[in-house]
Amino acid sequence: MPKTRAGVDYGEYLRLGQLLSCQAPKSAERGQPAHDEMLFVIVHQVYELWFKQVLHELDSVMALFREDSVDERSIGVAVSRLQRVTEIQKVLVDQLRVLETMTPLDFLEFRDLLVPASGFQSWQFRLIENKLGLRAEGRTARERIPVGAASPSLFDLVESWLERTPFLEVSGYQFWARYAEAVGTMLANDRRTIETNPTLTGAEVQAQLAELAQTEASFAAVLDEKAHERLRAEGRRRLSHRATRAALFIHLYRDQPILHLPFRFLTLLVDVDELLSAWRYRHALMVHRMIGTKIGTGGSSGHRYLLATVERNKIFTDLYDLSTFLISRSALPPLPPEMERRLGFHYPRE
Ligand code: HEM
Repeated sequence: MPKTRAGVDYGEYLRLGQLLSCQAPKSAERGQPAHDEMLFVIVHQVYELWFKQVLHELDSVMALFREDSVDERSIGVAVSRLQRVTEIQKVLVDQLRVLETMTPLDFLEFRDLLVPASGFQSWQFRLIENKLGLRAEGRTARERIPVGAASPSLFDLVESWLERTPFLEVSGYQFWARYAEAVGTMLANDRRTIETNPTLTGAEVQAQLAELAQTEASFAAVLDEKAHERLRAEGRRRLSHRATRAALFIHLYRDQPILHLPFRFLTLLVDVDELLSAWRYRHALMVHRMIGTKIGTGGSSGHRYLLATVERNKIFTDLYDLSTFLISRSALPPLPPEMERRLGFHYPRE
């Protein structure tokens, strides 16, 4: 490629000399090259490059949320960067298909040469988990890498940002008392529907009422801080009560202009978490077909260990759970005009 006007050369700019000399299959060193090892090396390297980009985006989002006050523009930037992260994650999930063109038998040609190297040792992957807010308690000893663990995670930063949201107290308006009334009406309707349903047997009515009682208990935790703290102590909630309420308010009134970007931001956090779970699950399936029930080169139980991480390593579970507490738009308490005004965008008349 000819040099550009500024004198920058394609290969120099991208350091292709270095980049393309970083593939050193072990089987070639052994003197019996295994054809598919090149693919194995390159696919892993491409993942690590994408991990680097994801970290770059996460760092910038976290820097925005470290500020004492996060303005609307910053949330807009955070939204577009997290959107980019999710697009990269989709590529990461899809990319496993390329590696799956290698058959299990082809993999066996060089697998033993890799011991004890393993994805366990991908410190960038651990850093992504740590920065997002995966807690050390959830990890097994082998997974624990202290990288980035000390600084506040994105989870912590989002929690403090939510706790600081001011709009829940406007001129004495008791939003939560109104919400409790609306929930009470909704649950009473549900109870009546169950009790008067002629198609249910007595036992079915009892079973459905027991489920309803659980839903009532969940709502009680949103309405009562002590109940919420009990769930937190049991590890069933992580987000503080105040932050949970703010997140719920944002979900309920997301049609208000000022809450729309915060709503998209919270939704993207769930997207990132969900796509990470999708990757974990997809990787576990690939591992199963590649090595069956053998143990991993890093010493874990292999695909069974990986499957367990799908549920265990979710980070923003509290945000998923918020849907439990949504009530329909028609049942939402109307906001007082002063609050509507504060949550809207206002342009001066010409
Ligand atoms: C033939 C393909 C692959 C096989 C058979 C495989 C197998 C495994 C196994 C068995 C584990 C559990 C740890 C252990 O005992 O070693 C693991 C973990 C891991 N692998 Fe893979 N892997 C493959 C490809 C990939 C690729 C392409 C990536 C992309 C970076 C990757 C990233 C990881 C990561 C990050 C972990 C740690 C996951 C965690 O602990 O939550 N693996 N892999």
